[in-house]
Amino acid sequence: MTRHYLDVDDLTPDELESVLDRGAEYKELLNAGESHRDLQERTLGMLFQKPSTRTRVSFETGMTQLGGHAVFLGENDIQLGRGEPLKDTSRALSRYVDVLMARVFKHANAEVLAEYSDVPVINGLTDDAHPCQTLADLLTIRETKDGFDDVSATWVGDGNNVAQSFAIGCALADVDLTVATPPGYGIDDDVVERARELGGDPTVTHDPVAAVEDADIIYTDVWISMGQEDERDVRMNDFEGFQVRADLLDHAAPDASVMHCLPAHRGEEITDDVIESDRSVVWQQAENRMHAQKGLLAWLLEN
Ligand code: CP
Ligand code: NVA
Repeated sequence: MTRHYLDVDDLTPDELESVLDRGAEYKELLNAGESHRDLQERTLGMLFQKPSTRTRVSFETGMTQLGGHAVFLGENDIQLGRGEPLKDTSRALSRYVDVLMARVFKHANAEVLAEYSDVPVINGLTDDAHPCQTLADLLTIRETKDGFDDVSATWVGDGNNVAQSFAIGCALADVDLTVATPPGYGIDDDVVERARELGGDPTVTHDPVAAVEDADIIYTDVWISMGQEDERDVRMNDFEGFQVRADLLDHAAPDASVMHCLPAHRGEEITDDVIESDRSVVWQQAENRMHAQKGLLAWLLEN
């Protein structure tokens, strides 16, 4: 059976640990200058309906380091943009590539790609989920806090795609999670339910100050995700009080780390001084995208 990675709970807790371990091994090998060409002659297709800096470059570079190749497929550069059905695109691409990564709007479209693909499909972000980001987030937490034991994370801001996959990932890794969002912007009930089924118990609140009090990790993301640009005025108003800034961090432990998946909108969800501070682990987090995804690619192609 072809395994896909559409959200973090497509992996069991043990499989997640294996992927993170493999990513950490690749990071060590790379830093030691040692070759690790485990995916020679393998090709990754990368389908994008939305822009990307990190996802695109980390996947492409990761495949190069693993001895393989990656093909960038912008929606409008292929026949999909002229109306070829997604299922036909998936069936054709999966006859060429060994693994397909896709960044699409509707999560259902990632599911269609997976349904019709003979090769593993990786979700490179949908409106509902960003599970590759979660791999990097968990690797970063594991490195920064020396494991997951007794780690508490607090999400502050929009209960968006990044937050939703992070909630599932925290449940799988046994990281305690509090999600503080304005009313109406929480993570979906279905995500809370899935997290609970995995043994997690995310606390959902609308009070960012109380939420950061016991946090080891404070994580935020943009208030306006790709595709929500028309909601800008309403959202800017609704998210007031949810900015990650120095006076919010005064309520957190002094060694609490700040995370952001990037790109950041300084002055909106996070201030410039916080993202540039010693507490910020955002560049480590961005780098870990590549290491963690290499772990995922190797794991998917070997299983
Ligand atoms: N965090 C993230 O996915 O960044 P990109 O949109 O640049 O890929
Ligand atoms: N929530 C953001 C994440 C970007 C990586 C978005 O969907 O635009």
